[in-house]
Amino acid sequence: MPPTSSDLKFLITAGPTREPIDPVRYLSNRSSGKMGFALARVAAAAGHEVLLIAGPVHLETPAGVERVDIETAAELYQVVDTRIAECDVAILAAAVADYRPARRAEQKIKKAEGVERLTLELVRTRDVLGSARDAMGFTGVLVGFAAETEDLESNAAKKLQSKACDLIIANDVSVPGIGFDSDENAVLVLRRGASTRSIARSSKDQIAAEIVQLCESAR
Ligand code: CTP
Repeated sequence: MPPTSSDLKFLITAGPTREPIDPVRYLSNRSSGKMGFALARVAAAAGHEVLLIAGPVHLETPAGVERVDIETAAELYQVVDTRIAECDVAILAAAVADYRPARRAEQKIKKAEGVERLTLELVRTRDVLGSARDAMGFTGVLVGFAAETEDLESNAAKKLQSKACDLIIANDVSVPGIGFDSDENAVLVLRRGASTRSIARSSKDQIAAEIVQLCESAR
């Protein structure tokens, strides 16, 4: 029997990654993980099995959710690659570093007399969302996020297409009071083969509930 909408398995990524520079420093971003954790909470409360893959955040694991903690983009890639095949829905809400330091210094980098400028060489990380279909062979419902500061809808439409997603949840991170580290968000939901929906400013729990419902019906 095909699964009903209440017995799907969700893979959800959340939070930032940390890319080490040396034993005490890293590159990261302002993601709090709240949107991904709200999605995990809502999906589990709706009766779904949930695997939450989380970067370093200060948030409690929602009840009934299996949580795997990661730090770097490479670790995130590896866990998603290993586990995505067992899932029906993958929502990649983590704010993954696009570049990491080319080298991790073994010892703490010390300042040196007369050295006024240092250059950090960065290399690309692997795109987890962009690898889900071809490299990982995922055939379930694929949901990505697009955090943009300009041309929200057209940038999100490009990601929907290029990463073969069913849904892209797009938010304008330049608007104060929503998005990063906030309890609220306002998003556009772009759907493959269906019209774009706008979800007005509301709590991340309310937005998560709408996204989970859209995933259930996209199945
Ligand atoms: N993402 C990912 N792996 C990466 C980078 C991003 O899986 N190495 C995912 C994010 O989880 C998100 C989506 O890709 O679901 C879009 O992330 P975003 O940073 O907005 O877009 P990018 O594709 O990285 O493009 P750009 O930074 O150029 O806008």
